[in-house]
Amino acid sequence: MNEVIQNIITRRSIRVYKEEQISDEDLNKILEAAKFAPSGMNSQDWHFTAVQNREKINKLISAAKEALQNSPIEQLNKMANNPNFNPFYNAPTIVITSCDKNLPVGQSDCAAAIQNIMLAAHSLNIGSCWVHTLAMVGDDPNVRNVLTELGIPENYAPFGTATLGFNGGKEPKAPTRKEGTVNIVK
Ligand SMILES: Cc1cc2nc3c(=O)[nH]c(=O)nc-3n(C[C@H](O)[C@H](O)[C@H](O)COP(=O)(O)O)c2cc1C
Repeated sequence: MNEVIQNIITRRSIRVYKEEQISDEDLNKILEAAKFAPSGMNSQDWHFTAVQNREKINKLISAAKEALQNSPIEQLNKMANNPNFNPFYNAPTIVITSCDKNLPVGQSDCAAAIQNIMLAAHSLNIGSCWVHTLAMVGDDPNVRNVLTELGIPENYAPFGTATLGFNGGKEPKAPTRKEGTVNIVK
């Protein structure tokens, strides 16, 4: 199997991280890979916010948790009320993707970029996980204030966040693939 396909197949979501930070060199390579994702009509109307400051990450988590506690969805309340809930798994780096709120393909563009981030990270032996939390609470005023402090443009909505860092746990096994998800028509 070629290296690219091998990298795709062996990437796993990592949810336990070492404290050790990734190098600036690797972070820049990963962000460069994000920027080379495809985007609808080549708009590239995305923004990638890498945060490596523990206090700032914690401030964002607190705001997100509070917003989830106020959510009308019971399951989200329950999750956010768990004192151990940390959506970013203590990863030393997070990359928040955000997109123009008025662009119909914005979320798809960000999704393509997150996949590039995770695959680039894996190729550098850096673990990652796609985290949806901010996409659910981006309109909350307190969350929005923190996003603004982090430099996310006002007209941009947060989409997925990629956690990044070295795996501090076991190597996760690949979940079994569902049968019947493919057909080939000739
Ligand atoms: C759109 C999307 C949202 C996700 N959100 C979360 C999340 O909020 N928290 C989390 O731990 N994992 C999240 N994941 C990771 C999935 O749980 C994971 O990809 C899946 O279980 C398959 O495992 P693998 O990535 O190791 O192949 C998300 C993945 C996708 C594609």
